[in-house]
Amino acid sequence: MCGIVGIVGNRPVAPLIVDALKRLEYRGYDSAGVATVEARELDRRRAEGKLVNLEQRLADQPLGGHIGIGHTRWATHGAPVEVNAHPHFSDNVAVVHNGIIENFRELRDELTAQGFSFSSQTDTESVAHLVASGLKAGLSPVEAAHAAIDRLRGAFALAIVFRGEDDLIVGARSGPPLAVGLGDGEMYLGSDAVALAPFTNRIVYLEDGDRAVLRRSGFNLTDADRKAVEREVKISVGSALLADKGNHRHFMLKEIYEQPEVIGHTLSHYVDFNERRLALRDLDGAPAGIDFAKLSRLTITACGTAYLAGMVGKYWFERLARLPVDIDVASEFRYREPPLSKDGMSLFISQSGETADTLAGLSYCRSEGQAIASIVNARESTMARESHSVFPTLAGPEIGVASTKAFTCQLSVLASLAIAAGVQRGYIDQATEERLVSELAEAPRYTNEALHIEEQIEALSHRLAGKKSVLYLGRDTNYPLAMEGALKLKELSYIHAEAYAAGELKHGPIALIDDEMPVVVIAPHDRIFEKTVSNMQEVAARGGQIILITDAKGAAEVGMDEAQVIVMPDVPEIITPIAYSLPIQLLAYHTAVHMGTDVDQPRNLAKSVTVE
Ligand code: M6R
Repeated sequence: MCGIVGIVGNRPVAPLIVDALKRLEYRGYDSAGVATVEARELDRRRAEGKLVNLEQRLADQPLGGHIGIGHTRWATHGAPVEVNAHPHFSDNVAVVHNGIIENFRELRDELTAQGFSFSSQTDTESVAHLVASGLKAGLSPVEAAHAAIDRLRGAFALAIVFRGEDDLIVGARSGPPLAVGLGDGEMYLGSDAVALAPFTNRIVYLEDGDRAVLRRSGFNLTDADRKAVEREVKISVGSALLADKGNHRHFMLKEIYEQPEVIGHTLSHYVDFNERRLALRDLDGAPAGIDFAKLSRLTITACGTAYLAGMVGKYWFERLARLPVDIDVASEFRYREPPLSKDGMSLFISQSGETADTLAGLSYCRSEGQAIASIVNARESTMARESHSVFPTLAGPEIGVASTKAFTCQLSVLASLAIAAGVQRGYIDQATEERLVSELAEAPRYTNEALHIEEQIEALSHRLAGKKSVLYLGRDTNYPLAMEGALKLKELSYIHAEAYAAGELKHGPIALIDDEMPVVVIAPHDRIFEKTVSNMQEVAARGGQIILITDAKGAAEVGMDEAQVIVMPDVPEIITPIAYSLPIQLLAYHTAVHMGTDVDQPRNLAKSVTVE
C-alpha cells in the first residue's frame, strides 16, 4: 500500500514531493520520507507517523536538491518506526517502494554475504543494496536498476535515484500502479495521477512489467524484456485542489452528510427520472451496451465495504431479475479460481479501483474469457482501465478511510443495474419499473431525513463506547448491512463487533449474549419483521441490550420496553439499505469520537489496499 513520488525538476523539489505525498496519504500513514540529490550527494529526511511529522522535520532541517523521491508508508515488513521509513539507502542509491518483495530474505542473505549491511527490517532495503551491487560490478545506473528489478519477485512500484545523478529517476511497475507525469522541463512519477495533479494533467500509466527512465527532457519506457514500448498520454481530470473538511469535524462526517447529494448524482447517471425509466450509462455517459437477458450468471468480487455492497446487490439481482449471483471476497476468489459460467459476467466493485486482491480477481476472470464490468469511484483507476464496462459511482473523492458515501453510491448503482436487469430479463413490467424508479428518486430525500436523527444516535453511542464487543443482526438485505455496521464500528472504534443473520443467532452466537452485550438490530417493518422480533426476544430474555433501528410502524409494533429504538423515516423497500446505512455510519462515528480514536485515519489501516 504506500504511496510513492519522484520528481526531476528545475526548482527545489522537497516541498513539491511533500505536496504530492499529501494526496497519497490515503495509501498509508505509518511514516513518510523524502530523499534528494543535491550537489551530487544523496540526503534524506524521514519521520515516524503522519506526514505532518515529516513536514516538521523538513522545517527544522530543510532538504535542497532539484531531484528527489518520496514515500508515505503502510507497514508490511518491520514496525512503523523511523529506521523502517523509506527512502532506503545503499552506498549510492535511494529507493522508495510500494508493494512486497517476496524473495527479500534470499536477497538479504546474498547481499549480506557480499558485505552489505542492513539497517532496517524492510523488504525494500534489499532493493537498494541490489542496485548498489550492480553499480559496484560496473553497471551503469540504469543497467543496475534493470538488473536488480529482473531479480525481484512479488509486487512492486519503485522509484530509484542515484548519488552523482541529478537528472535520472528509474521507475518500475509490477502489480501496484505507477504513472509518469509530463511537465515542461520537469518529469514526475507517482502512484496515481491525483498525486501529480498540482504539476501536470498529462499522464502516462505504466502497464504491468513496465520500467521508466525519467530525465528533465523526457522519458522512455521499456517492458519487462527491456523492449522499448509506447503508452498513450492521457489527460487526467484529477483535481489539483486538496479536499478539505469544510465546517465538519472530520472528513468522515462531511462525507456522511454529502450522501443525499452524491446518491442523487449517481442515480441520475443511470435513471431517466422524467421518463421514470432506467437509462444505464457508461463512464463517458454513453448508453451502456450491456444485455442482462443474455447472462446465465453474475459473479461479484470485491473487498471490505465494497464486498458488502455486492452482497446487497446479490439479493437485488436474484429477487428483481432472477439472475443467479455468486459472490466472494477477492482474496479468496483469486486463489479459489472457481469455474465460471459460459455466458456469465464478472462484476467488480471498488471505491479506489486499485485494490490488489480485487484486481487479481479481475485478471483471473479476464483470462477465463468473461465479460468484465466494474462499479468504481476512481474513474482513472486500473480497474476502470481493465474493464469492458465501467459503471461509475459519482461520490467524489472519499478521504475518510472508512467508506461511507462510496458505499451508498455503490448501492445506488447496484439497485439501478438490478432493476435494469429485471426489465431486460422480463421480470419487471413497465408499471413496476416506473414505481421502482419513483422510489429510487426518493433516496436523496430519505437519506437527508435520516441525517436528522444524528443527535439521538450520538446519545445512544455512549452505550457502545468502551464495550468489549457488540453484535449486529439483520435479515435479508439488512444482513449485509449489519455486517457493514460491524465493520464500521471495528475499524473506527477498535471495539470488537460481529454481525449475524438474525435467524442464525440461535445456532451458536447466542451463547455470547449477557447483560454486557449491546446488540444492534436493523429491522424495518417488512415482510420478515416479525421473525426478527422473535430473535430480539431471544436476546432480551438473556439480558442483551438491544438497539433497534426501525421505522415508525416497527417501533409501534415491537412491544419491547427494554429496546432502545432509533426511528427511521418510512422508506420504500428498494432504498432501505441505502437509507439505513446512515444510522449505522453515524453510530460507529460517534462511538469512535467518544472513544477518542482517529476517525479519519484509524490505526493500522489505509484507504487503498494495494498489497495482498
Ligand atoms: O477501494 P476499495 O473499495 O476496493 O476498498 C475495499 C476495502 O478495502 C474498503 O471498503 C475497506 O473495507 C473500508 N475501509 C471499509 O470502510
